[in-house]
Amino acid sequence: MSAPTPPRATLLDVQHVSHRYRLPRPGLLAPRPSVKVLHDICFSIWPGQSVGIVGESGAGKSTLARLIMALETPTSGRVRLLGRDLHAMPAAQLRLARADFQMVFQDPYSSLDPRQRIWRIVTEPLRALGQRDHALLQHKAAEMLERVGLQARDLQRYPHEFSGGQRQRIAIARALITRPRLIVADEPVSALDVTIQTQVLDLMLELKQTVGVSFLLISHDVAVIHHLCEELLVMHRGRIVERGSPAQVVQAPRHPYTKALIAAMPRIGQGRRHATTAEHDDDLI
Ligand SMILES: Nc1ncnc2c1ncn2[C@@H]1O[C@H](COP(=O)(O)OP(=O)(O)OP(=O)(O)O)[C@@H](O)[C@H]1O
Ligand SMILES: [Mg+2]
Repeated sequence: MSAPTPPRATLLDVQHVSHRYRLPRPGLLAPRPSVKVLHDICFSIWPGQSVGIVGESGAGKSTLARLIMALETPTSGRVRLLGRDLHAMPAAQLRLARADFQMVFQDPYSSLDPRQRIWRIVTEPLRALGQRDHALLQHKAAEMLERVGLQARDLQRYPHEFSGGQRQRIAIARALITRPRLIVADEPVSALDVTIQTQVLDLMLELKQTVGVSFLLISHDVAVIHHLCEELLVMHRGRIVERGSPAQVVQAPRHPYTKALIAAMPRIGQGRRHATTAEHDDDLI
């Protein structure tokens, strides 16, 4: 008789996370008001799986992303990455743990420091971990740029010399350089036009398949999530109101908000142009 298979460990566990923002006091003696923006959020990501979150503006998606990235501490609940409670870690330990989870932001114009050359931008997470070996940093940066369809010679250039799509590739190269298990991408393609969106999404899909990195992908657009994720969470007013495979949710939405969202999305079902190669992307962007 074969031994029972041990249960697989989750990559990310978000357990009963609620969050309240404290607002400025309206008057000198008035009590400080607060607003609850997340209510009892629970979900997991398994290794190799990617999860997408859609929801209207103000639903709490970016707040959740910041809590998962341990940039803020939730009012209650736990976030565990590879079994470790991120918010209970001493700062030095958290700094090292950051190698396992990185973030890609919405705006590729403001997320890259215009005064820094690309090699410094791309190696920033490694330098934050204490890596000072210049030759090694250059080598890793070249490897990462080539991995995302750019070229080693681009390392000496500045962000303003690149298009929006190329800048988002640079941001992905920066996120990949520590070989993270999870990349949290908050609206990574919404600042790009539709053809460039597809190229960046195809790159993310290819990285998921080849490097094995998981994405937590936040978007307004269900079609974007459909492209990359096995599970879709729908957020509305700080709550997860629906979850399932993107196909399930698109075909049979149950919550009124999801129904309205799907009804407003003519692109679903028409498919996106698929799988351009990295070499061709370089010419296309
Ligand atoms: N620092 C803050 N202080 C007080 N309230 C905040 C703060 N940051 C966000 N909020 C509020 O929390 C709620 C959720 O905001 P959040 O940015 O997480 O939404 P979102 O789903 O990412 O929206 P969008 O799709 O527009 O990016 C909103 O009502 C917002 O006004
Ligand atoms: Mg947001």
